[in-house]
Formats: sequence, structure tokens, C-alpha cells
Amino acid sequence: MAKILVTGGTGHLGRDLVPTLIKSGHGVRLLARKAQPDMAVEWAIGDLATGDGLEDALLGIHTVVHAATLSPIAKRGMRLVDFFSSPSDVDVDGTRQLLAASQRAGIAHFIFVSIVGLEGSTLPYSRVKLAGERLVRESSLSWSVIRATPFYYLLAKMLGGLTWLPVWPLPTSASNPVDTRDVATYIAQAVDDGKRGMRPEIGGPDMMPFSTFGRRYRDALGLRRLVVPLPVSRRISLAMGLVETAEHLGKRHWTDWLSEHERRT
Ligand SMILES: NC(=O)c1ccc[n+]([C@@H]2O[C@H](COP(=O)([O-])OP(=O)(O)OC[C@H]3O[C@@H](n4cnc5c(N)ncnc54)[C@H](OP(=O)(O)O)[C@@H]3O)[C@@H](O)[C@H]2O)c1
Repeated sequence: MAKILVTGGTGHLGRDLVPTLIKSGHGVRLLARKAQPDMAVEWAIGDLATGDGLEDALLGIHTVVHAATLSPIAKRGMRLVDFFSSPSDVDVDGTRQLLAASQRAGIAHFIFVSIVGLEGSTLPYSRVKLAGERLVRESSLSWSVIRATPFYYLLAKMLGGLTWLPVWPLPTSASNPVDTRDVATYIAQAVDDGKRGMRPEIGGPDMMPFSTFGRRYRDALGLRRLVVPLPVSRRISLAMGLVETAEHLGKRHWTDWLSEHERRT
């Protein structure tokens, strides 16, 4: 079985992806800035922002799954500054360095994890992510791009930031966020299926107004808040990163994720 280098293996998706790849019989090496004591895998210490450790990390590797990112929004929730700028040293410069090192190492397949609807979003993080994706698509490596809708954990983080408000005005935009376990399964299939290029996008099985996701979150937490559905145009929905796709659907529902992750108050 092909040996795989995973970047971002310590992140939300990565922590589901690494065991899924190992279970499907692959040897896995993780490129990370720091080894995590609770993860029993082969570590390659390196940093995408500086390029340190990339050459050694790629020795003997067949496939790269590039799932690292630097998203301040995912780390600490949305702030005003996120509407004006987002760092590019990992997602653009780091991707460029990883692609160049992968070319030198003769990597057979470079898989890039990306996001649905990047072209329509005006968020600086989306523009950075799109620039990174374009580098992959323009590279001479054999590549795949897998775009996913926002992950459930991010949705929970954003809605969690509203809990102090008695009224939640939420857009009615059609959305289908997804469970990282479903995305991990989909990526593991892409490692082995021999296909290349832009893959069908993946989203979750619940296609609902964003405001309904908010209601279900509120109910799962047992909160008394008024959700006010706010109709917005498709253009504004896309600009805010509220996206949907029906190309490939995961299995795990939002309410299942909530009952696994959120403690009732
Ligand atoms: N979150 C979403 O809703 C969403 C939706 C669709 C697609 N995606 C894409 O899915 C992928 C994973 O997202 P995620 O939400 O799971 O990310 P995440 O939880 O924020 O994890 C990011 C990962 O990148 C690593 N990383 C950051 N800076 C690095 C550096 N300088 N060198 C090496 N590694 C570095 C982090 O390592 P540390 O643990 O050391 O910080 C972590 O493992 C990304 O490509 C993202 O764009 C995300």
C-alpha cells in the first residue's frame, strides 16, 4: 500500500483522516510542527510557513494529502479583522513550497483539501485558500482537489459565539455543512481510486436553511433564544461562505453530531 504524507493531521479533519487512512491499510506519516503524544503515528517535524523539514518528510512518500491550513476564524471564531485580512504564509507560501518539494521528490499524487464556493466568497481567508488551490491546479504534479462545505465543528463554534444574544438573526441561505468523519472517508477513497483532478464536492446530508441549523443547535443546547430567519440573496450568501453542494453527500446528520458533542445546559 502507498505511503502517505498528511499535513494538518493534528487538526479537526486530520484527527479523523489519519485513523481512516491507517484502517484502510496505508502507511501514514504526519508533517507537523510538534508531535502529539496521544497520536501513535510516524511524525515528520516541519513547518509549512518556513519550509523546514519538507524534504525529509517526503522521503519514500507516494501520495501527499495536504490538509493543513491557518484559519484564524476556525481557531478562535470570527472577529472584525477577519473581514480585512488573513495570513497567507501557510496556505499560499506553504503550499507553494510543499508543491516544489513534492515535485523534487517525485510524488505520484497530491491531494488538496479545499472549500466549496471559494470563487463567490469575499472573505480574505477564502481568497487565500483559493490562491493555494490555484497553485495546486496549475502544478505539473498529478493532483486531486477535494472541496467540502463547512465542517460541523466550525458551525458549532460560530453559533456558540451567539449564545450571549437573546435574539439570533440568521440567514435562510440553503446550507449543508458536513461531518469531518465523512470527509475523511471520502478522502481515503480518493487515495485509492486512481482518479485525478477536481473531485465531486462533498457536503452533509441535511440541506436546510442556515437558520434551521441554528434552531437545531439552540434546541440541542436547551437554550431559550429567538431565531429570526433573515432572507439574503444568493450573492450575499456565497460572499459570507454559506454554501451548499449536492455532488456527494456524507451520512452523518447535524443533530447526531450535536448529540455527540454538545452537553445540554
Ligand atoms: N473548517 C472547515 O469548515 C473546512 C471546510 C472545508 C474545507 N476545509 C479545509 O480542510 C482542511 C482542514 O481544516 P480543519 O478545519 O480541520 O483545520 P484545523 O483544525 O484548523 O487544523 C489545521 C491544521 O494545520 C496545521 N498547521 C497550521 N499551521 C501549520 C504550519 N505552519 N506547518 C504545518 N502545519 C500547520 C495545524 O497544526 P497545529 O495543530 O500545529 O496547529 C493543524 O493540524 C483545510 O485545508 C481547510 O481549508 C475546512
